[in-house]
Amino acid sequence: MAILIVPKTVRLWKDTLKASVRNYQFNRTLERIGRGAPAKVPDRKIIEALFFASGNQSYGADPEYLDEVARRSATTSKPILECGSGLTTILLGLFAGARGVPVWSLEHDPEWYESTAAMIRRYQIENVHLLLSYMRSYGDYSWYDAPLAQMPKHFGMVVCDGPPKKSTTGDRYGLIPVMRNRLGTDSVILLDDVALENPDPVLSRWLDEVSASYQLFPSRASSYAVIMLR
Ligand SMILES: C[S@@+](CC[C@H](N)C(=O)[O-])C[C@H]1O[C@@H](n2cnc3c(N)ncnc32)[C@H](O)[C@@H]1O
Repeated sequence: MAILIVPKTVRLWKDTLKASVRNYQFNRTLERIGRGAPAKVPDRKIIEALFFASGNQSYGADPEYLDEVARRSATTSKPILECGSGLTTILLGLFAGARGVPVWSLEHDPEWYESTAAMIRRYQIENVHLLLSYMRSYGDYSWYDAPLAQMPKHFGMVVCDGPPKKSTTGDRYGLIPVMRNRLGTDSVILLDDVALENPDPVLSRWLDEVSASYQLFPSRASSYAVIMLR
């Protein structure tokens, strides 16, 4: 019996040690990025280090998408809407929030909301309105039950990395029908997890409904689209 317990204890101890090393690296990298922000966007290598130290590879955005978010949030002057919070929220806060550009982030999962809120508090991120916004049905699709009356009338950029694709009816489609009147010819949508080869179902549906041009970019495990509304 004792022989079985010892390896299990050692494994647990190793896992705890690994998690605290990763946590330490994550905090150090984010503090380093924060010291240069909002003037200096970190290079891709630092963003990659942050991605791996986050330990959220299966749900979190790929480094290429994080890089796109960081670079664009450093120059955007209009309010930003984010769908699906996490590391992207922190980058938006560091590069847009710190310049006084408001960020509105919708998160449907209470536990994940708490985890993002804790990072916002820890790094004293400013101008991020993180909203716990449950999913609701809009007929043939579901999307966030966003408190529209409180939110800006116009967004210059949308970081569309939620709601989760698999568990949401209509995937991320709801953004356009629900928010279209708050997006204009100067708005850019960064849509994550887009199919590269076959036409992406959400992107195809949006292009039938709004006038836009777009570019696709491959990333580590997936690909994303930069959509410019016209
Ligand atoms: C693709 S993730 C959004 C990731 C976020 N933009 C980022 O870069 O970290 C979409 C949703 O998945 C959920 N999620 C993210 N990480 C998770 C985790 N580790 N476990 C469970 N749910 C998670 C959250 O509800 C989030 O809004």
